[in-house]
Order: sequence, then structure tokens, then C-alpha cells
Amino acid sequence: IEQSGDTGPLAGRRVVITAGPTREPIDPVRYISNHSSGKMGYALAEAARDAGADVVLVSGPVNLTAPAGVEVRTVETAEDMLRVSSSAVDEGCDVFIASAAVADYRPETCAGDKIKKTSQEMALPLVRNPDTLATIAARDNPPFTVGFAAETADVEKYALDKLQRKKLRMIVANDVSVPGLGFNSENNAVTVFWPEGRESFGPDSKRQIAGHLMALIRNHLEAAG
Ligand code: CTP
Ligand code: CA
Repeated sequence: IEQSGDTGPLAGRRVVITAGPTREPIDPVRYISNHSSGKMGYALAEAARDAGADVVLVSGPVNLTAPAGVEVRTVETAEDMLRVSSSAVDEGCDVFIASAAVADYRPETCAGDKIKKTSQEMALPLVRNPDTLATIAARDNPPFTVGFAAETADVEKYALDKLQRKKLRMIVANDVSVPGLGFNSENNAVTVFWPEGRESFGPDSKRQIAGHLMALIRNHLEAAG
């Protein structure tokens, strides 16, 4: 059920969501990226809007239309994502959800001209990107911060490790080794972990999963006061 902005369980709450991939330029015509579709993040933005929240969606390049009533701020690189997310959080944020698939590394430099093929082999030096989620969660008075963990093995172990290491309130884990679920697909199945518990949703459409996740986040937010 769509809410009209000043009603609904998240009325008056500000929610910032990251979504989609980032692109890290190699030269004027090439980049490093990944297969993230952005669908989970866009579905979460719709679910937050439907619950009455004011929603800012910090989006990497995707082929999706902005949900009505959601403010989309587009970004390209991981560094853009940190900068734009940080200012969105500065403007006021109760819940921060990082669903973006951020490139962990970027080329050390972006060549000014298109790189020519000269030798049989070539190496591209990469440097670490900043972590938007960990940076937001490490603030004084952080928002209720939720991360995602897309894993292909030892899902629970890595998800719990990220929950603790990044000081998150919740982490949404999905096993991306299952064909047809998660990355770049219509459906998803997730297990959400928080310090005292866990809950699983799906397999189901990303829209349904997003509704369950927003309801769970809302319950935890209310319990926290
Ligand atoms: N994330 C982020 N900025 C980054 C990397 C990750 O905001 N530079 C966020 C993602 O949006 C996700 C969470 O951190 O919510 C976990 O991302 P993931 O790639 O699973 O974890 P990493 O910490 O990058 O660890 P690794 O890729 O080595 O598993
Ligand atoms: Ca990563």
C-alpha cells in the first residue's frame, strides 16, 4: 500500500540507500565494474517510500527508472559514492542501507588518452577504494546502519564477520553462488543477521524481500527508540 509521505510507519524518517555497481575508469573509454543490476536497492527505496520515509537513493549506473517520490543522486565511482552518501547523511539520516556493489579497487591512475595495445601482456596497478558503509557506521551518532554481504562460500561466517568489523546493526547475506538468485537476477533469498538474532526471507521477488527487510528494520528502529 502506497503511503502519501506524512503517514505510514516510517513517516518523518529519513532513509539513505546505496544501489547498483560503481565504475572505476581505466582510460576515457574503459572501466572496471560488476554485474550488479541495482534492483535490490531500488526495491528497498520503493519499500521505504511506501512506509512513508523520505528516501535518498545514491545510485551507480543502472538501467532502472527512479521510483516516484524517491530522490535519486547518481554516482560513477566508489569515491563519488562515499562523497555523495556522506553529504546525504549529513542532511539527516535515520537509516542507512548499503546495497551497492562497490568496486573494492580502482586503477591507480586514469590514462588521459585511450591506452594502445603495445605488448603481449599488460598489468594494471590497482589501489583500494574507500568503504562507504564502514565510514558511515564509524561516525559519532551513526544512523541505523544496514549492510549487505554477497558471498559465494561460508556465507554466515563472512556475514557475521562484516557485521562486527563494520559495526553494523544488521547485515543482509545472500549466497550469490545459487543460480537465478541475487546478483543481476529478479529474485533473491537472504538471511539477515543482527547481534542477537537472525531471520531468513525468500526465495521471493526482490520487491517482496524488500518489504520484509523494511518491516524488520522498522521493528528494530522502534525497539531502539
Ligand atoms: N561496501 C561499501 N563500500 C565499499 C565496499 C563495500 O559501502 N568500498 C558495502 C557494500 O555496499 C555492502 C557491504 O559493504 O553493504 C559489504 O560489501 P562486500 O563487498 O560484501 O564486503 P567487503 O567489505 O568489500 O569485503 P569483500 O569484498 O572482501 O568480501
Ligand atoms: Ca567488496
